[in-house]
Amino acid sequence: MCGIVGYVGNKNAQDFLVSGLKRLEYRGYDSAGILTLSDDGKATLIRAKGKIANLEEKLAKLKRSDTIGIGHTRWATHGEPSERNAHPHQAGPIYLVHNGIIENYKELKKATNGHEYQSETDSEVLAALINSFYKDGSHPLINAVVQALKLVKGTYGIAVVSVLNPDEIVVARSGSPLVIGVGHDETLLASDASALIGHTKQAIYLNDGEVARLTKNSVEIKTLNAEPVSAKVEEIETNLAAIQKGGYEHFLLKEIMEQPDSLVETLRGRVNAEEGTVRLGGPGLKEAELRKIKHLIIVGCGTAYHAGLLAGYYIEKFTPEITIETVIASEYRYRQAYIPENSVALIVSQSGETADTLACLREIKQQGVKTIGIVNAIGSTIAREVDGGTYVHVGPEISVASTKAFTSQVIAMVMFGLTIAQAKGVKRTILKPYVEEIAKLPEEIRKVLGEADQEVKTIADKYNGYDHAVYLGRDTAYPIAMEGALKLKEVSYIDANAYAFGELKHGPLALIDDRFFEVAFLPEGELYEKAVSNVQEVLARNGHVIAVTNVPRFDLHVENVVKITTTLTIFAPILMNLVSQLLAYYVTVAKGYNVDQPRNLAKSVTVE
Ligand code: F6R
Repeated sequence: MCGIVGYVGNKNAQDFLVSGLKRLEYRGYDSAGILTLSDDGKATLIRAKGKIANLEEKLAKLKRSDTIGIGHTRWATHGEPSERNAHPHQAGPIYLVHNGIIENYKELKKATNGHEYQSETDSEVLAALINSFYKDGSHPLINAVVQALKLVKGTYGIAVVSVLNPDEIVVARSGSPLVIGVGHDETLLASDASALIGHTKQAIYLNDGEVARLTKNSVEIKTLNAEPVSAKVEEIETNLAAIQKGGYEHFLLKEIMEQPDSLVETLRGRVNAEEGTVRLGGPGLKEAELRKIKHLIIVGCGTAYHAGLLAGYYIEKFTPEITIETVIASEYRYRQAYIPENSVALIVSQSGETADTLACLREIKQQGVKTIGIVNAIGSTIAREVDGGTYVHVGPEISVASTKAFTSQVIAMVMFGLTIAQAKGVKRTILKPYVEEIAKLPEEIRKVLGEADQEVKTIADKYNGYDHAVYLGRDTAYPIAMEGALKLKEVSYIDANAYAFGELKHGPLALIDDRFFEVAFLPEGELYEKAVSNVQEVLARNGHVIAVTNVPRFDLHVENVVKITTTLTIFAPILMNLVSQLLAYYVTVAKGYNVDQPRNLAKSVTVE
């Protein structure tokens, strides 16, 4: 949420700032701004409401050769999206960009009553506060930043420059990520490493409570308590191709279509189909520890939560004596939940930065419970704070709606479940079918995507005029229905909700009329006939049903059927989720909306 970039070096700062912001635009796209300083401290501030493209239009008339600057793409919290609320914010000689929320900004505002406020943001308060300690350059900028931050309650990733010292950027973080790129005669800064790709491979991930002074040749880091920190330089592994559209019109379609390959990356070196075993090194739990596990808490938000729900359904099918509780992070963090002995928590997050999930991780860890990350973004805060973990390795997910991460999160968690079951001595004959299907899944995904793509597009053309949708499933198809409804509503703005089939007659059946269409997931299995009866109840009320099934003999007279041909049975619901992803994509494209950047949303939700 909100993207920050910074540059100090010998090259054109505006060029890096704008290209970096474009790569971070998925983090917020209400407004954007950049500020550069000339060698003699002349400031050029350019801000625009809306997309980076609007900023670029203004920039064309204000080109500078400045070699230092900061930039920001905003996801509004305090104050509407507008030019005056766009960052960078100024206070005297200081300019600041901020990601996060200053919770006590009203109180701090009183301490800065000499400052004439231009915006409604909490961030400008921080700029004014820093300026009040800076005293026109009579104190080092880094000291003024530290003094101000000691008074702040809330979360922040910030970058600050001063016209009086146009050769340094001061940065700090608490709760909002910042990565420093170390180049030759240049130092770069971004909210995530994708903005640095192509400029440098050397990155330093700043930790909470750290502040740093960047010049073109140096990075000095210390804690807010003035203890020096020796920076750990890490290699950025992502390449340029991974963050480009690669011939697709939208990132969302690219990421849906990438799933056969991204899942292979999740499985690499972890699955032995012949033996029917899995091996995960990352969690770092010994056999004896795995054997003792009785209770699994799975924590996530949105799609990650749905992945956790689905994985929970699977794991309890093959792991004896284990209770699984999948929880929404924003709720769980404020519950007074009792965590029994022999519990392990799976912390699920694509970005590894989600504020609520991170808060749960810290809370659970404090209670002495082992935490295992199921994370995509390498080097992210959650990845660094968990006790152990499994990266899903799906590569950058740039479209705001999560797709390829979901598939791999489910399978990574199921593999963790299989690891527990193996340690508990569950018979190979029970576990082997799961492992065999996991090994086949990437190719089955490839096949289904190939076969269903145009079929779903045709269906999407028929249903994009509806305002409401109901997604239905039971057992493992229920979380698939939940995820399908989320996908549709977040990109197409069609009001979509999911229900367990069995719940229909307890209320939602009242909804069925011509304003609604229904997507029914009907996997082969022991509950198939029951689910079919539920569909009959919908049809009897003239429902507009799209059935998604892998049952060859399916013969209900519904409006549309998407038949999945697959040899898989256990993981057929994951293949059905591909249909949901494609449906959401094609409905949205037909409606003409921005499918990669839905309104009001942003990727990487670093505020509560
Ligand atoms: C939906 C979506 C969100 C995220 C949620 C958690 O398509 O992308 O619901 O799944 O914000 O994000 P992470 O996984 O980064 O913690």
